[in-house]
Amino acid sequence: MLIPDPKTLMSEAAFRFVNESHKLLIGDRWLDAQSGATVDVIDPGTGRVIAKVPAADSADVDLAVAAAREAFDNGPWSRMTASARGKLIWQFADLIEANARSLAEVESLDTGRALYECQIVDVPGSVEMLRYMAGWASKINGETMNVAMPCDFHTYTVREAVGVVAIIVPWNYPLELAVWRMAPALAAGCTIILKPAEQTPLNAIRLGQLAQECGFPPGVINVVTGYGETAGAALSAHMDVDAISFTGSTETGRLIVKAAAGNMKRVFLELGGKSPAIVFADADLTAAIPGVAGSIFFSAGQVCTAGSRLLVHASIFDRVVAGVAEIAATMTLGHGLAAGTQLGPLVSSDQMDRVSGYLDAGRRDGVTIVTGGHRVGTEGYYMQPTVITNTSAQMSIYREEVFGPVLCAVPFDDDDMDRVAAMANDTVYGLHASIWTQNLRLAHMMARKVKAGNVCINTHNFFDPAFPMGGYKQSGWGRASGFQAIEHYTEVKGVVAKL
Ligand code: NAI
Ligand code: MG
Repeated sequence: MLIPDPKTLMSEAAFRFVNESHKLLIGDRWLDAQSGATVDVIDPGTGRVIAKVPAADSADVDLAVAAAREAFDNGPWSRMTASARGKLIWQFADLIEANARSLAEVESLDTGRALYECQIVDVPGSVEMLRYMAGWASKINGETMNVAMPCDFHTYTVREAVGVVAIIVPWNYPLELAVWRMAPALAAGCTIILKPAEQTPLNAIRLGQLAQECGFPPGVINVVTGYGETAGAALSAHMDVDAISFTGSTETGRLIVKAAAGNMKRVFLELGGKSPAIVFADADLTAAIPGVAGSIFFSAGQVCTAGSRLLVHASIFDRVVAGVAEIAATMTLGHGLAAGTQLGPLVSSDQMDRVSGYLDAGRRDGVTIVTGGHRVGTEGYYMQPTVITNTSAQMSIYREEVFGPVLCAVPFDDDDMDRVAAMANDTVYGLHASIWTQNLRLAHMMARKVKAGNVCINTHNFFDPAFPMGGYKQSGWGRASGFQAIEHYTEVKGVVAKL
């Protein structure tokens, strides 16, 4: 595999941004970490350092929280009309759209993911979410209610912004996840401290620049780069942060919950998954085979909702596995920015170790690797798309979130829906699932039985600002989109007057 020089594949705007001296955005100032420490930013396609960003610690987090607090308590933001807030959020969307090309390039370079993905998903998905939430800003209303208490009482509710919100996002969709978490918090009138993952901090900083350019008042959007164990932990434990929105591993989610207990801050969690794609005997395989392949190989499987467990009716098992394996074997693996790349590298050498570790465990456990299973080259972190059979329900590769392009295919030779659902639900996670069949009754009956926040029929990985997204069981708390997301960032105050 020929790895090109990424410099030659980027627009001038993106190249210029990557090579800036990167800082923390705190209030209206761009600052280095007080300790002077930095984090190396690596291009996963080459393994080379492409930038450095500040490694903030609790001292910097204190400043950022103070800036967000000041902007919330005393700034113009909370006194602005909801309509004016909505307009600013809409303008933010326009500015992101105007910078679509360079944002997508930076995202691809930072995450390793294929550029086309960033162009068709990350940037438009961010723009749509901001526009959707911009509309909600002016529609966050209270109610009046008919109380049972005798005498004349006038009762009503108001929805108020919860306050200062810390947003911690992972490295797989750094831009889109940041925007998806920020948009409802902004619409509600909150102020924000955004902490991107240490592996992929660049577009969070770019978002900070665009927020300033857009005219958000100082302190409404702060950006703090740094490690999870320091900057992230300081934010989640901070006594002056009112709510935390965390997206990432279930393991770290548990730490967030514990840290949040100090001041009982609100917690939103979008965590891991081991999502089933269930293919019934009557499925349209011309749609199901590429659909299932896309559900696990998009973004090299580094998607919380990836269809990593394929449950297929025994009568079509061999055909489906062969079809998915053929797609896997013919995908073009390459640098995210290179023309024609369908599958980029994994995000980091750590992630390569994790995914390889699961594959090694699977080999020891006696699985069959139908295709893939190996790292490609030594430069960058390229992993072959992999299809595995002969797993059992106890194996780590079948049970745990691998977060790589690794599909475990399992047959079921049973027409009992409850038993198929039990297989699908045999996981601590409950984020996403897909059901592939042409039988409407079967599809909707299964949709009732599967325990997951999203159930897709004849599709997988469906996301939309208007459609709830979130997890059952250990996949999380709360919903990231729709009005449910706004509810998360508002308090309801009941007011009563004796007339
Ligand atoms: P992680 O959950 O540790 O990292 C996600 C974010 O949390 C990053 O911004 C990180 O800096 C921050 N963080 C880490 N430790 C923290 C702490 N103690 N307090 C506050 N913030 C903290 O995930 P990691 O280590 O990068 O990846 C490990 C595995 O997690 C992956 O292999 C994958 O299985 C899973 N993962 C799942 C994601 C999802 O969307 N479901 C996203 C990223 C990772
Ligand atoms: Mg970590």
